Amino acid sequence: MMYHPLGLKSRSDFKKPIVAVSDGYSNVSPCNFGLRVLVNRAMPALRKHGATPVVFGYPLVTDGEAMGTPRMRNSLVSREVITDAAEVFCEGHAADALFGLGGCDKTQPAMLMAMARMNIPSVYVYGGPILPGRWKGKNLTVVSPFEAVGARSAGRISRKDFDGIERNACPSAGACGAQYTANTMGTGGEAVGMSMLGSSQIPAPWKEKLLSIDDAAAALYELIRRNICARDIITRESLENMLALVFATGGSTNAFLHIPAIAREANIKWNENICERVRRRTPVLCDLRPSGKYVASEFHMAGGALQVLGILYHAGLIHGECMTVHAKPIGEMLKDVSGEPRSDQDVIRPITRPIYSQGHISYLRGNLAKKGCVAKTSGIKEPVFTGRARVFNSEQA
Ligand code: FES
Repeated sequence: MMYHPLGLKSRSDFKKPIVAVSDGYSNVSPCNFGLRVLVNRAMPALRKHGATPVVFGYPLVTDGEAMGTPRMRNSLVSREVITDAAEVFCEGHAADALFGLGGCDKTQPAMLMAMARMNIPSVYVYGGPILPGRWKGKNLTVVSPFEAVGARSAGRISRKDFDGIERNACPSAGACGAQYTANTMGTGGEAVGMSMLGSSQIPAPWKEKLLSIDDAAAALYELIRRNICARDIITRESLENMLALVFATGGSTNAFLHIPAIAREANIKWNENICERVRRRTPVLCDLRPSGKYVASEFHMAGGALQVLGILYHAGLIHGECMTVHAKPIGEMLKDVSGEPRSDQDVIRPITRPIYSQGHISYLRGNLAKKGCVAKTSGIKEPVFTGRARVFNSEQA
């Protein structure tokens, strides 16, 4: 009755699988601004493959806007709210599958958590990174204005340059354009097998990103047909693959918040020993900002996550048997990807010439963090430091 005015008419329409499509569109920030266009592409693509797509929205918090203010307290909470929203919608409307889209930091692990929790056929689509801004011949990212605040306060740049950097840092739709949290989780979606290989780093405004939706829709329909569910893909081994990519790309420490949460939703036992084992065997191969030189669109043009996964796979650092949304094991998808990066770029290094020979994020324990903490330890030349600890109880303090 209630589906009739929405276009479902014949008996056969009601036999089609219902696919929930998450539309995290918002005009509050560039990060999720491009998602509506992708949703509009996904709807007919899913219908063409014989599904009935139904859309739902979710709330989000933009870290780049809330950071440094009490509003940031809502950020991590939003991850759980989005996961719950997806579950409530899918269960409430008997969705057979989830076509999940995310952009800003927490929306991405939230979608992967929802997929793991509900264990239905699912594909994750990252809305893609923003294009780099430009000022005086240099690439800008979201961090450039923050650095400009410091430089302006120290009198190192003019007011004109400060305004130029601030106004030009974010020139398009898309998530923060380097290996910050959003891109770390977006590339991680490929490594864990929940996103189409080669899709994550396509910049949000590019036509290629729109076209990639067609393949993702076709893939989801095949997963439904073969009843391949999220937990067939998200396993301890595939999360190790995800972590390996985080290390190889010099990704964000926030992955250490999100990967355990995804593991928990999938009922996978996860602990710091696994992380440490993966860290010790995985080199940092990518020269990406914030610690390195290049932005996300340059990473994409150099081969992106797919190239890095290919290098790791041929070096024996990826569990090749893990299933993917391509309905094939990741090893089968990577066997024809070169184990060497292209020689005309230096964004991605060969395995024989890594930036660091081991992963850059370590678990630390001690009297300052009795329950443990994580820190970026790459590049530390002196592992022992003696000094007075100054403890603050709030960011403002
Ligand atoms: Fe949204 Fe960085 S603030 S991705």
